[in-house]
Amino acid sequence: MISRDCFFIAIDNALICWDFKRHKQYQLSVEHAHRLISLIYDQSCSDSSDAVAEDLKRCKVMLDSPGGENDWGWDVLSRIFHIGTKDIVPENQPASEHEWAVQYLEHCNDVLSEASPVESSWGVGGGIQLPGFCAADKFDEVLARRATARAFHHLPISIAELGKILHHTLGFVEGRVLSNQQGGVEQFSKRRSSPSAGGLNATEGYVYVANVEGLEPGIYYYDPHRHQVHWRSQLAPKLGDLLSGQHFANDIPVGLFLTSRFDKLWWKYEHSRAYRMALIEVGHVAQTFQLAATAGGMSTWLTGALNESSIESLLKLETSDEQVIFFVGCGYSDGSAIPNCLKSLLK
Ligand SMILES: Cc1cc2nc3c(=O)[nH]c(=O)nc-3n(C[C@H](O)[C@H](O)[C@H](O)COP(=O)(O)O)c2cc1C
Repeated sequence: MISRDCFFIAIDNALICWDFKRHKQYQLSVEHAHRLISLIYDQSCSDSSDAVAEDLKRCKVMLDSPGGENDWGWDVLSRIFHIGTKDIVPENQPASEHEWAVQYLEHCNDVLSEASPVESSWGVGGGIQLPGFCAADKFDEVLARRATARAFHHLPISIAELGKILHHTLGFVEGRVLSNQQGGVEQFSKRRSSPSAGGLNATEGYVYVANVEGLEPGIYYYDPHRHQVHWRSQLAPKLGDLLSGQHFANDIPVGLFLTSRFDKLWWKYEHSRAYRMALIEVGHVAQTFQLAATAGGMSTWLTGALNESSIESLLKLETSDEQVIFFVGCGYSDGSAIPNCLKSLLK
């Protein structure tokens, strides 16, 4: 059988087999391509063991069983993209802050060796001036203070502060409950401070607790209905190991792994387009987390560079129904955008 984790595309007069789960690509010879097509259409020759079929088996293009989950509720487009961009763990993932800084600096030098894209020229001439305003209220102040910090103090945050941030981020707004008469489903009648695709509240949060007064370090599920946290697992030794080696984040006292309940979206929306909505909803929730933490006098950090499978096993997510998308963290900080390890290296 041909693996469900491969797609085939013709590029530059050759058939490419893209194993999106293992992040591998193979250019098929004419012989391999013909063999592959006959294996797809003629099941009777799928147990053949000639050299060409052996190659396809060795590369896991051909399998004894189809492999790949069959429990994806959208069409294959989103599966290719989601699985194909999951667990992109670099071969030499940094194991320490110093290693991260060295690799990051190299990366920046590589990027800067090419000219940067030019800014859009739409803004030049002919614009209509909008009225200015005086940024003076609390909202203006919070927006102005929200910034990404990459160095955190070894200071705890209190369970009360954490509770407030979680409630603002994922809890339900009191009094904003749709009644059944409005045609809604009871389960989806509550509303958050962030918008939600189809009102399904598909975004869930798992709290990373490293240094919170009144709460054992660990990973907890946040239940927005009861405003409770529920134990899931012990912390991984270092946060950076879960976040593509970004070890400067290891001092963060608290964070939130944001997941999406794809199964809720599958139920209401068939097309892979809904996958985009899942990502956008998580983005809204992440921004609310940042504003809530900023309003509480903290600094924030965020990343989508996740080692998803390791995180999902800590969160105890076992099927495709719910998958981790993003991490946001907060804590007390001098607000420095440059991690200390990078500062040392630059010196
Ligand atoms: C989707 C997204 C992913 C990001 N991923 C990372 C990351 O992996 N590591 C990091 O240090 N910052 C990350 N950032 C933060 C950006 O670098 C930061 O927002 C940007 O430099 C602008 O700075 P500001 O947030 O202070 O305004 C990410 C931001 C966004 C929106």
